[in-house]
Amino acid sequence: MPKFERMDRRPRRNRKSGNIRALVQETKVNTDDLIFPLFLLEKPTGKIEVNSMPGIFRLGIEPLLKEIEECLTLGIHTFDVFPVVEEHHKNTHATKSWDPQFFYLKALKEIKRTFPEACIMTDVAMDPYSSDGHDGLVKDGKILNDESLEILGKMALAQAETGIDILGPSDMMDGRVGYLRDMLDSNGFKDVSIMSYTAKYASAFYGPFRDALDSAPKSGDKKTYQMDPANRNEALIEADLDVEEGADFLMVKPALAYLDIIRLLKDNYSLPIAAYNVSGEYAMIAAAAEKGWIDYNSAMNETLLSIKRAGADIILTYFAKKWAKQQK
Ligand code: PBG
Repeated sequence: MPKFERMDRRPRRNRKSGNIRALVQETKVNTDDLIFPLFLLEKPTGKIEVNSMPGIFRLGIEPLLKEIEECLTLGIHTFDVFPVVEEHHKNTHATKSWDPQFFYLKALKEIKRTFPEACIMTDVAMDPYSSDGHDGLVKDGKILNDESLEILGKMALAQAETGIDILGPSDMMDGRVGYLRDMLDSNGFKDVSIMSYTAKYASAFYGPFRDALDSAPKSGDKKTYQMDPANRNEALIEADLDVEEGADFLMVKPALAYLDIIRLLKDNYSLPIAAYNVSGEYAMIAAAAEKGWIDYNSAMNETLLSIKRAGADIILTYFAKKWAKQQK
């Protein structure tokens, strides 16, 4: 045993008990910071588990309202609702996305009517409604930018008319935040917020989400609009534009392979930073836990903590309800 005259610094003193560890804990996750993504089915009573996301269900409006009610009692109050659109409703121009009679828009109204205290976010992108499975309009194998904006504008307006709180443009078309802001403001929706998918990468981790919505691209990939995972400076370019164009929140997506990007935006912008802990990130933990290879709750807690520690103020996560339950 080496002999020490003295050792003034013993960092382990601050880890010696649960109480001390709680006092010195630097990062905390809070239900207030979590957004729970939900998948809405057309059939009002429907309930189908997503194969690649054990524990996550596609729900018709009836069970979905129950789910929201339960989450509200657990302290989760913000929800990002995505529609599961049946193939026969899809077409090249995603026209169902702005049809006020479409089940998704009617459901959003019903959710806001039933739970005015809940904060509802929607997704602005063509892929769930597009027969091409792309976020923008496809012509001769190319994704058209400015022509897509017109469709996204109509979609955003139709969503705003249901009374939702936050629009989430996830399409990555150039200029869409400014376009949507103008569209909202000139139609009396000055109070509708925009959470921009600022740095959205062309990622392999969206696979299970595309299973949930049956929304995978029919041909090609999303690399001409989503960002290259190799790039960092480009996130600053996108963030500058979103700030200029009027975004209220900046989002990084996915979260775990992009913790450095979360920190980059946190250090460079004063807007709140959100991170999307995406479907593939959920699936990896859920699947490994099912096999008994990893402890579900510990892995979930560590994951959410790491995203907060990286600098996210807000986390969109499929773990939201389970995390909140675990706190009770
Ligand atoms: C659609 C959209 C996607 C996600 C959110 N909105 C998929 C994609 O861009 O292909 C992914 C969410 C997840 O994986 O959890 N534009």
